[in-house]
Amino acid sequence: MDKRPILFLDSGIGGIPYCRHFRQSDPAETISYLADRLNFPYGTRKRAELIVILNTLMEKLIKIVNPKIAVLACNTATVSALAELRQCFPDLPFVGTVPAVKPAMLAGKTGKVGVLGTERTIEDPYIQSLAGGNCEIFGIAAPELVTFVEQGFTPADENKKSKLVKKYINRFRDAGVDTLVLGCTHFLFLLEEFKREAAPHIKIFDSMDGITQRIESLLDEKNGARRTKNNALPQNRLLLTGTEPPDSSWQNLAKQLDFSLSLLDKL
Ligand code: DGL
Repeated sequence: MDKRPILFLDSGIGGIPYCRHFRQSDPAETISYLADRLNFPYGTRKRAELIVILNTLMEKLIKIVNPKIAVLACNTATVSALAELRQCFPDLPFVGTVPAVKPAMLAGKTGKVGVLGTERTIEDPYIQSLAGGNCEIFGIAAPELVTFVEQGFTPADENKKSKLVKKYINRFRDAGVDTLVLGCTHFLFLLEEFKREAAPHIKIFDSMDGITQRIESLLDEKNGARRTKNNALPQNRLLLTGTEPPDSSWQNLAKQLDFSLSLLDKL
């Protein structure tokens, strides 16, 4: 039995849908969610810069949070720094998030898979390698969508959501794409809009099932030694980088999730 938390990490709120998805499957495990708002956005940074940011942050998180599993709930962090993190922290099992290109490739008929991500993710050679020469990857970077999601939605944003999503769907449709992979965790907040605007010609894919399954299989290893048994009331936490007091949007999110809210440096 291991009661230590599972860490989810993103530059902001992007990993929250992944965290919710996992929690539905496994409510007994304790979660610490880290939003690195201090370094948001990750997508416009260079790979080398992200490696330093994430190595430094992980060192701190291992000391303060002491997670039993670390989930990079962020495609940008994963393609940029997962290999280095695994090398630097060999005792901590990591779960990375990469665009679900394989299932999209298998489902598509045009041989062209669309990937929507951050600039850093789309420019990374790893994305092209996911196709393995079996299809063409057509990538588009959408930093404005990342910012739009991170700012949180107001009722006035309802029309804007569909409008913004439609703009990208049109570009993918014009390129002859029939499967589209959401390759940035922030975009999961717009999943319904993507599905609606893409239907019936383009099918949308994400990696939430894959991530939850991967965490579950790590928990099952060694006869389930990593699992928390009978944890009726997990003490879940939403942690923020930086010293600015959390504004009302973070407070509301913590309330919605029923997580406590703290600054990482104040723990
Ligand atoms: N949510 C992150 C991703 O999946 C990146 C967003 C950002 O900070 O640019 O790529």
